[in-house]
Amino acid sequence: MDFQNLILETEGPVAVITINRPRVLNALDGPTLAELGRAVARLGPEVRALILTGAGDKAFVAGADIAFMRGLSPLEAREFARQGHAVLTALEKLPVPVIAAVNGFALGGGCELALACDLRVASDNAQFGQPEVNLGIIAGFGGSQRLARLVGPGLAKEMLFTGDRYDAARAREMGLVNYVVPKEELLPVCRDLAGRMARRGPVAVNLTKEAVNQGLQMDLASALALESDLFAVCFASQDRAEGMDAFLQKRQPAFSGK
Ligand code: COA
Repeated sequence: MDFQNLILETEGPVAVITINRPRVLNALDGPTLAELGRAVARLGPEVRALILTGAGDKAFVAGADIAFMRGLSPLEAREFARQGHAVLTALEKLPVPVIAAVNGFALGGGCELALACDLRVASDNAQFGQPEVNLGIIAGFGGSQRLARLVGPGLAKEMLFTGDRYDAARAREMGLVNYVVPKEELLPVCRDLAGRMARRGPVAVNLTKEAVNQGLQMDLASALALESDLFAVCFASQDRAEGMDAFLQKRQPAFSGK
């Protein structure tokens, strides 16, 4: 099954998905979103971290495809938003860390795609924004929800109400991105981060992601109860025995992900 609008590459334990429609700054139409969903579903257990980026040196993803959206009926628009939610939620639920390597414009659906990743690293030419209000629509791929959860409601509302673009330095100040790096260093930095995460115990990394993501939707007491349960689950894994044995035997662990 070949992809028309994205590239899926795997290098050892790290997979890289590149949204590949540079002619329209990697804008997301229905078929591209569907391909992204299929690529995410295709990742096998050998993949221990995923990097998501955009083709070319101008854009990560410049948003949902406006030409595609122009002709949608209200019901089709709801389906498109639901498709976006399903694909971004699948990305969020992947059992491995997902890093957005934001190599230029991350606007509208592009910003929302980055928000569904676990962390974001931006090149110094990156620009973020939720410009939907300029088009007479609201953010439809989770931006009204995930942005506020990441940067807080005040900054999120500023971005969502103004539709303004924010440069990488400002995005860093807001906590929208973890690092800003020169553009030629973007993929090497992301590969280094992904590689380090990929070498840790996969069961532990997976359960940590679950604890943070699910815990954020709960009150603190319930979230701490979830943490203690997931902590206990680690003790059923081979990774836990290997990690502790390796430490006590003063050697590097060889995790199996089981
Ligand atoms: N949907 C569809 N096509 C898009 C697009 C989008 N979201 N963003 C860019 N494109 C297309 C442009 O229409 C243009 O196509 P053309 O060459 O056939 O005219 C091509 O990509 C290059 O974009 P262009 O606008 O010429 O580049 P620029 O450097 O002048 O501006 C942006 C870059 C990102 C500022 C500008 O393209 C833009 O504002 N895009 C829309 C962003 C947006 O509103 N996203 C949210 C959608 S919900």
